[in-house]
Amino acid sequence: MVSKATSLMLLLSFFAVITAEYAEKEDYTLEIDQKLGSNAAGCSMYRCKKSSQTFSSNVCSWYDKNYDIYYVQTCLESQTCTAGTKAGENYTCITTPTTKLQAYPGEKCSTAADCVNSVGCTNGICEGTATGSACTTSAQCIPGDSCQKVAGTDVCTELIPVGKTGCANDYDCAYNAGCNIVSATTLTDNTCVEYLSLTPGSQVQELSCVGNYTNLCSSGYCAKTGTGTTAQYLCTDELKSNHSLPWKCYSTESEACVSNVDTHTGLYAISTCSCSFSPHGDAYCKPLLGDTPYKRLTQQNYKWVTSKYVSSCNTERRLWPSNLNCIQDYWTDTEAATMIYYGYALSSYTEIQGAEDCVMNVFEYEYLAAKKAYGKDEAAREITLAVALLISLIA
Ligand SMILES: *[C@@H]1O[C@H](CO)[C@@H](O)[C@H](O)[C@H]1NC(C)=O
Ligand SMILES: *[C@@H]1O[C@H](CO)[C@@H](O)[C@H](O)[C@H]1NC(C)=O
Ligand SMILES: *[C@@H]1O[C@H](CO)[C@@H](O)[C@H](O)[C@H]1NC(C)=O
Repeated sequence: MVSKATSLMLLLSFFAVITAEYAEKEDYTLEIDQKLGSNAAGCSMYRCKKSSQTFSSNVCSWYDKNYDIYYVQTCLESQTCTAGTKAGENYTCITTPTTKLQAYPGEKCSTAADCVNSVGCTNGICEGTATGSACTTSAQCIPGDSCQKVAGTDVCTELIPVGKTGCANDYDCAYNAGCNIVSATTLTDNTCVEYLSLTPGSQVQELSCVGNYTNLCSSGYCAKTGTGTTAQYLCTDELKSNHSLPWKCYSTESEACVSNVDTHTGLYAISTCSCSFSPHGDAYCKPLLGDTPYKRLTQQNYKWVTSKYVSSCNTERRLWPSNLNCIQDYWTDTEAATMIYYGYALSSYTEIQGAEDCVMNVFEYEYLAAKKAYGKDEAAREITLAVALLISLIA
């Protein structure tokens, strides 16, 4: 019997960036979200512009539809290469738009316009709704508060500590915890549980296991066992790709991107086989939560939510990538750069495999910038270490 694999995406979680598919053992199909093309993996090819080719001014990528090849040329430093509005159109260089993320209460600002809803900017920090005042969303509240129902009215209220009840969602809990939801209406049944604290095989509430994901389990995955009255949801073992990454996959393979099988529930994960920007049109398996590119981001995010710095931020600014602004405002440069690099390295994971430099410069400049900032810190760390070593030698 073949049941359809479910395509899942959970936003605003530790595991925000990935789409994954699941199935029971011997009961799955692999769906690949890419068109079928001339090569085995069905991906376009990305190559540097040949010296014999002449691009009209401003063109940064020309698509040769006969061979499914994008020829690429780097734009000026201040420019960004953008796709045309119609399929098959050339990509052109445009002045990089200055997009500034709007700041949440607690984040830094120059004027009120920098803040979400243009609430005031006082002493360089966006204002927020004070404890006890009416709210419609947690995003309005000052750091340390969320919008909770108190005696029938929504007011900004202090976050609920780990182990205590009353949460409606994760943002109502302390920065390092999520809500284990028994009931959507009787909030006193719901408890704040530390992120990643539930070990494989422990129970998690059904409402907190969304699309087989949960931030409460150490593995990040949960699944149902039993039926009827014996049905329950359990945290799974760590699930990582069976093949060591990076793993090249093809549309014709159905088992390329699977994980190990959880010993408690039989769940296993299937990640997407996704195109890279390589010259040959290769595709690679996306990392699963148990794979290093994912795990290190999760660990870094855990470091953030358990740090003292997170308390300067609004409750909704705890997880990657929504914490991007706030980690830059308050975390140490090294830690923030690490988080940003891990974040981009994960979301660009399949794209960057085997890509040529010119292509990276054009399509992965954010990843490159993040890597450079992170590398700068690496270098600084190495120098510090080298100096320390030198001092210990001559002392
Ligand atoms: C794309 O750019 C190439 C090279 O500059 C040019 O020859 C071609 O006509 C352009 N195609 C379109 C659809 O604009
Ligand atoms: C979890 O995955 C299983 C497949 O093992 C699927 O049947 C189930 O519906 C999924 N649960 C959720 C909450 O998505
Ligand atoms: C992954 O590999 C293990 C060990 O070889 C195997 O037991 C497991 O069934 C594989 N996963 C899947 C989904 O087939």
